[in-house]
Amino acid sequence: MRGGRPLFGKVSISGAKNSALPLMAASLLTKDEIVLDNVPRLSDIVTMSNLLMNHGTKFSICGRRISDQTRHKVSLQSDQITNFTAPYDIVRKMRASVWVMGPLLARFGHVNVSLPGGCAIGARPIDLHLKAMEELGAEIILHNGYIEATAKRGLVGAEIVFEQVSVGATANAMMAATLASGKTLLKNAAMEPEMVDLAELLNKMGAKISGAGTREIEIEGMPSLHGATHSVVFDRIEAGMYAAAAVITGGEIILQNVSMSIFDNIAQKIRDIGAEIRAINSSEILVRSTGNLKPLDVATGPYPEFPTDMQAQLMALLAISNGDSTITENIFENRYMHVPELNRMGANILTRGGVATVHGVNKLYAAEVMATDLRASGSLVLAGLVAEGETVVNRVYHLDRGYEKLEEKLGRCGADIWRVVN
Ligand code: UD1
Repeated sequence: MRGGRPLFGKVSISGAKNSALPLMAASLLTKDEIVLDNVPRLSDIVTMSNLLMNHGTKFSICGRRISDQTRHKVSLQSDQITNFTAPYDIVRKMRASVWVMGPLLARFGHVNVSLPGGCAIGARPIDLHLKAMEELGAEIILHNGYIEATAKRGLVGAEIVFEQVSVGATANAMMAATLASGKTLLKNAAMEPEMVDLAELLNKMGAKISGAGTREIEIEGMPSLHGATHSVVFDRIEAGMYAAAAVITGGEIILQNVSMSIFDNIAQKIRDIGAEIRAINSSEILVRSTGNLKPLDVATGPYPEFPTDMQAQLMALLAISNGDSTITENIFENRYMHVPELNRMGANILTRGGVATVHGVNKLYAAEVMATDLRASGSLVLAGLVAEGETVVNRVYHLDRGYEKLEEKLGRCGADIWRVVN
């Protein structure tokens, strides 16, 4: 990309990857058809569909996106599950694969899931998932790198208190508890909008879940669930990426298919740095740069705190702000891999443990940089949009995991960006 062009235009925000993935896994809870609308076209979605098809789920795309305004609809039917193993080859590519555990265990009483191992942004254990399954009555054996979970007489509702807030463990426990006998109470649960979306689909499938979106979720187990149709909530992290792109380039972008109630905790921080952000109707948000970027102290945390998935992109904004900022990363221990790359582009960022001190600079300069993970690569694209000269971001497959048609959406707003195919 060649930096320096202010971005103006409208961007249609896709469905949330982090919602679509557990919703797809939830289809394993019933033999009936689940239809999901507004599913983003991303490589992680392909990985999840491959995993589900490997178990025996019938997966098909039943509505295509012909333009940005139309939707991508998929159908999933798990009436003939023949394989109960989530293999290492798929799980190592995408940790979200572990979400098949709760549904398969709850419906069939057994499942084998490869242990995911570490990942680029940290150790990311799954002990909370396993503890929750045990508390629901499962027997867990770790064998040859696999989790063998069984519940011969079915799962039984329980009170589960998570030691730490975990999106993944909350989703797994919520899905499993829908088919457990009796009542389950999840305490210290994740409140992310994606968890509310999951509870909405499960309730449409006949589950009885209340309290999603709070720290305490109650689930009354049912003997079986049925088919449903659901539209995936918008991706607040993708919305944040385009809001940041408008602000860093000094432009103005209208985000479409979004809602302020979900976006507000991200909008608030971007506003504080230097933007006007306001809803112009129930599904569109205007983001307008106010010029001068101000420094900010920000800490990541579980929703409703500022999301770790926006930390790298916010850092790109602060890198060219007018003063010194600090960012405290409280969720993942190794989530500053974009820092050396941003510094190669002229940023002045120091990290010590989980704290990054960002000394704002006047200008960034183009460089050839390396994407290390999904959100880190987003920050490099943002930096490239304002850097002087031609920036090359390598390993863009990281971007393809989470940003649908990034170069097209940015290009339509006037960015000078293209994909190099070699
Ligand atoms: C999900 C999101 C990811 C986001 C993260 C935090 C998906 C596909 N991924 O990841 O984009 O960055 O939430 O918002 O939705 N932990 C444990 N033991 C566990 C589980 C988690 O110690 O069993 C720790 C993690 O290492 C981390 C913290 O808890 O420090 C939060 O992780 P969690 O919320 O579970 O993240 P994921 O579900 O993996």
